Amino acid sequence: MGEHGHGQGHGAHRDGHGERGGHSGHGHDHGQADWGAMSGMLERRAEAYAPMTADFIGQLRAAHPDPRRIVDAGSGPGVITCALAEAFPDAQVVAVDGAEALLDATAARAERAGVADRVSTHLAELPEGLAEVGQADVIWLGMALHHIGDQGAALAEFARQLAPGGTLVLVEGGLPVRYLPRAIGIGRPGLQARLDAAHENWFETMRADLPGAKDEVEDWGALLTAAGLTHVESRTHLLDLPAPVSGQVRAHVTDVLDRKRGGLDDDIDADDAATLDRLLDPEDPASLHHRPDVFLLAAQTVHLAKKP
Ligand SMILES: C[S@@+](CC[C@H](N)C(=O)[O-])C[C@H]1O[C@@H](n2cnc3c(N)ncnc32)[C@H](O)[C@@H]1O
Repeated sequence: MGEHGHGQGHGAHRDGHGERGGHSGHGHDHGQADWGAMSGMLERRAEAYAPMTADFIGQLRAAHPDPRRIVDAGSGPGVITCALAEAFPDAQVVAVDGAEALLDATAARAERAGVADRVSTHLAELPEGLAEVGQADVIWLGMALHHIGDQGAALAEFARQLAPGGTLVLVEGGLPVRYLPRAIGIGRPGLQARLDAAHENWFETMRADLPGAKDEVEDWGALLTAAGLTHVESRTHLLDLPAPVSGQVRAHVTDVLDRKRGGLDDDIDADDAATLDRLLDPEDPASLHHRPDVFLLAAQTVHLAKKP
């Protein structure tokens, strides 16, 4: 059993570390994000991305073959937490997140995967709550840093919580995801490029709304170095799931467009809104539910850095 066995772990740490407020999801709502409500969506995404996660873990293993204590910070529903526990059978893995429902999902998943004896959960606000978890050989920070207002200060805190010789794994950056051809037979070609532009506006507002928001040059290598870490190694991994995709991947792509339809209203024109409605309508033969040309092509960058 981990130091905070998941059956009691985040319950035991609940006092004084309630749900976060004021953080926005990596979806498209501003202001208060309800991360817990996104559990299913985050889980479907992480499952679709599992082959890429395996590549990320391969990169970590080459740099740090035998970690004993891994902290997955901003762990979401725990898909990656459990993948880490499976990949490193001698490691204890602690999932840390500010959303209790996601930690519950993590504990349930660890049970199903047969790794519950080595996976524990801890409810905490990052980065300050990390100190309660204690030092780690590996801190995994996947798609969570950009939800923290002062990313430089947060990285310094994450670096402090690494054991000497430990490795920080930062998943940030890459390329915009593609899941449909440029011309899809309905609406104006280039829908995804326009959605990307709208997403950039959303992202700026999301960051500006974070408590303690600080503008930062997103030179992740430089930020890791400034946090006192060395041997920075950045590598970009490809997820290439060509058409026809599985029902699981199709469900993930539907989630993504559904969220964009709901959250980018101010930034997309009526034509594109109508195209999105058709893509999301299960009754429409041109929708994501039926079209044969849905694929998933993503590139994400992993930055590894060492604590001297
Ligand atoms: C986009 S999800 C990433 C989940 C997972 N790491 C992955 O890569 O699939 C971001 C996660 O970070 C958590 N999070 C964001 N800001 C946080 C904060 N300040 N403190 C604690 N958790 C936070 C959210 O609750 C959410 O589960």
